[in-house]
Amino acid sequence: MPDRSVSSTGSDSVTAPRGLFITFEGIDGSGKSTQAESSFRCLIEELGEGRLVRTFEPGGWAGGETIRSTILRGDLKSVFTETLLFLADRAEHVERVIGPGLTSGKLVLCERFSDSTLAYQVFGKGFPREILEEINARAGFPRPDITFWFDVPVAEAIGRIVARKGVPDRFEKDGALLERIRLGYETICSEEPERFIRLDGTAKLDHLNRTVVTKILGMLKESRGIS
Ligand code: TYD
Repeated sequence: MPDRSVSSTGSDSVTAPRGLFITFEGIDGSGKSTQAESSFRCLIEELGEGRLVRTFEPGGWAGGETIRSTILRGDLKSVFTETLLFLADRAEHVERVIGPGLTSGKLVLCERFSDSTLAYQVFGKGFPREILEEINARAGFPRPDITFWFDVPVAEAIGRIVARKGVPDRFEKDGALLERIRLGYETICSEEPERFIRLDGTAKLDHLNRTVVTKILGMLKESRGIS
């Protein structure tokens, strides 16, 4: 299990006026946490730790553990409760971690963000999309500059989860649900192909890592004119 603690360090090396918001998405068992960790390590080598923030949802802020454990305990009966808790968590996370990181010009790497809610709660469980979009807009949640979607077949994802944990938990055990969520990601990808980059999550870690880091460094160069 990679270290998923929020990592935000000094701002002295930051000179650029705006940051880059990078998110990692995929169904449970897609390997995105491992990918996010190795991309983060490579980017530290390239740019220095002071330029980076690594975070995650749900719960990636001081105090976020309470909402995270309430949601992930798995006994919520209404998709409305679940969705509104994810959104409450996000509002605090944006306010305290993501927003300040971007404003101070950092690269914010976040495991899961609004696309998770769209894929899991809307496409997976039928929460109304227009309500989600209204809240996203009213809350002023930032749109990721780029999102890496680690796409793996549902059967493979479930196999990985079982190998890792022994038994799948509530979010993970329902293959039909995961299939709807995967299709949800596919829909987002077809709606926003420039931002939402599909990667073959069954490819080798090194290859995926190189693809992600090269893309991020390319974007940085483009937006800031650095070499
Ligand atoms: P977590 O243990 O962090 O899993 P992962 O490593 O796959 O991210 O659990 C997060 C779970 O919450 C995961 O099943 C996806 C789900 N989730 C949603 O359903 N909606 C959301 O908006 C977010 C952020 C997560």
